[in-house]
Amino acid sequence: MVLALVAPMLVACRVQVTPAGVRFSFAGDDLVVHVPAGSVGTEVTMTAVALPEPAGANTVPDTAFSVTPDRGWAVPVRITLAYARSAVPAGVAEGLLTMVRRESSGWVPVAGATVDTLAATATAELTTLGQLAVGWVGCDRRYASTCTLREAAAPIGIRVGATLEPAQIGDAAYISVLHREFGAVTPENALKMYSIQNQRGVWTFAGADAVVDHAADNGLEVRGHTLVWSQDQYTPAWVAGLTDPAELRAFTDEYIATVVGRYAGRIPRWDVVNEPLATYGTGRAGSVWDDLLGAGWIADAFRAAHAADPDAELWINEYGTDWVPGKHAALLALVGELVADGVPVHGVGIQAHRTSTAGPDAAAFRRQLQDFTALGLQVAITELDVPTDPRDSGAATAQAAAYRRLVEACVAVEGCTEVTTWGITDADTWLDGLGVFRTPTRPLLFDDSMQPKPAYRAVLGALCAGRPKGAAAV
Ligand code: XIL
Repeated sequence: MVLALVAPMLVACRVQVTPAGVRFSFAGDDLVVHVPAGSVGTEVTMTAVALPEPAGANTVPDTAFSVTPDRGWAVPVRITLAYARSAVPAGVAEGLLTMVRRESSGWVPVAGATVDTLAATATAELTTLGQLAVGWVGCDRRYASTCTLREAAAPIGIRVGATLEPAQIGDAAYISVLHREFGAVTPENALKMYSIQNQRGVWTFAGADAVVDHAADNGLEVRGHTLVWSQDQYTPAWVAGLTDPAELRAFTDEYIATVVGRYAGRIPRWDVVNEPLATYGTGRAGSVWDDLLGAGWIADAFRAAHAADPDAELWINEYGTDWVPGKHAALLALVGELVADGVPVHGVGIQAHRTSTAGPDAAAFRRQLQDFTALGLQVAITELDVPTDPRDSGAATAQAAAYRRLVEACVAVEGCTEVTTWGITDADTWLDGLGVFRTPTRPLLFDDSMQPKPAYRAVLGALCAGRPKGAAAV
């Protein structure tokens, strides 16, 4: 005997009970199950209560119920939950639906559940009840909304990263989005020379350690940013003030050996040299390193880093190559020389800080990435943000299109292995403090309330679309 009843108040919940011999009746909202004497007792009351809140990212709205027996219950109960087709989120195929149960780790699939897409129901036999819903599990890249950024990117060999400052480790909202969506972190400032040794001889690792430990504890990779930032504006004053080449060389060698050595095995890749070229030009940045040590200091920095951790990937990272005239060619020439000289360099980071929602030309940007992979190197978008003009009502859409162009270019180039955004939430972006843009710039993927923006969906869509056939390989 299989019985089915629809309780008048439980619109979406039908409960069927087996085995034969079981009777049931309703008492108000309660489903009273009468079990034959000799099995587990004579009467159990099931309370099925619709859960008021949206029950989780991967459940269909209005399908979540808490089903509780009033005492121990070992007879399988067949539960059927109905869903409204119109409530299934756009992009989720009905074939992905199943019954899910809430556990401490989140919603997990119920073994053996089946979905009848004609009847729009999910059914399973359960001895463990609790919170149940119609939902889906895991990421299916054909349906972008089932995936997080990280899940969408991992199968195509792309890391999705975001910045992390030590103070943000205590920000529960930031951390929960970081853990859900991202697979890598770049310390925004904690690993820079001005954080590690702002005063001569005083090493300060607390902030960097906190970020690296947090990453290790939570399965996030770290991009070590950065060993030598070749812009005097960001160089500790005492270093920028050195005048003796031997002293600067000795310090730089010691610094790289100490920092890379400290994190060997925990930081798999370093931006060894950041911004070697002039911010708005094509020549060298003109830093104390250029002035005292000559052009060869860059190759020396890479060799020192390689000696300190031979397993680490070593990157050069640059700003503005996507829009400063001639700067891409200048970086390509510099990197080409390093490669030709056998310097241990493995990747080129394109910061891709944009100055507005305009551009870049997608094909031109992709060709720039390919110029580096053609040298046998990896390439990455390392500091992406796209500022908007707060007076522009269409800004969010234009921004999404810009993000899509940039990420699509990375996806189209097989050797492009990372996309990192320079922050997570619009509430917290370095651009608003620069004094360059009309604020708020709202340049990131999540709004002030940590909700995903159109730009987020654009990036997710580009990642889910996957590498086109024939994407240029490393
Ligand atoms: C920025 C940080 O976001 C700011 O908090 C800090 O005041 C200055 O540096 N290029 C880089 C990054 O390589 O390290 C910079 O980060 C942004 C530009």
